[in-house]
Amino acid sequence: MFIVLEGIDGSGKTTQAARLGEWLSGLLGRERVLVTKEPGGWLGGDAVRRLALGGGLSSVWGEFFLFMMDRCEHVSGVVMPALEKGMCVICDRYTPSTLAYQVLSNPLIGSEAAEYMTGMSEVIGLPRPDCACLLDIDADTARRRLETRGKLNSFDARGRDYFERVRAAYDALIKRFPDEWIKVDASEDENTVFGGLKRGMERMFGTRLGGHAT
Ligand code: TMP
Repeated sequence: MFIVLEGIDGSGKTTQAARLGEWLSGLLGRERVLVTKEPGGWLGGDAVRRLALGGGLSSVWGEFFLFMMDRCEHVSGVVMPALEKGMCVICDRYTPSTLAYQVLSNPLIGSEAAEYMTGMSEVIGLPRPDCACLLDIDADTARRRLETRGKLNSFDARGRDYFERVRAAYDALIKRFPDEWIKVDASEDENTVFGGLKRGMERMFGTRLGGHAT
């Protein structure tokens, strides 16, 4: 199983990815679950993450290809080896992030690039997730959370309108591929959000969760 978690910055993905990992480890066995992330979830990925989040890139295409490059290394070194062993991989961000942050929300790139990216992903052989979960939250609430946590990166300086466009881009992806997505209201407290995520997983995977999901 290949599950990805998505959402704008401050949606609580990383916390929920860890909780999902714990829950699925309980159902499937710890050795059968891997929690990983993009950008930077591979050996050497820290340098790419710093470059991507540092705000020093001037070209939107440079940014696009950097995230794609990071993904290629992450998939070949981490994700595919785990999927080939039959593990369940939970990835904190994946191709929908690039579609939402670089492509669909960005007037300088244009939405026809979404087709280009999808075609490119197929040529590269990037595995398609079995399920993508959107932790949906409005830009103002997410921003307040980030400020409280003191965890702002260069993307966060792009402002409210950008994040509302990213959120709308996620919604467009859900409308296009409704069978592949779960949408959870992420404005609630951590436990309530996780409850929604678990229910979504149970609906999506049923008995594949070891036949004893609760
Ligand atoms: P994170 O802090 O949730 O790991 O995300 C890092 C930042 O990178 C976040 O602001 C979103 C951004 N990002 C993209 O813009 N495109 C991508 O393809 C990925 C994976 C992340």
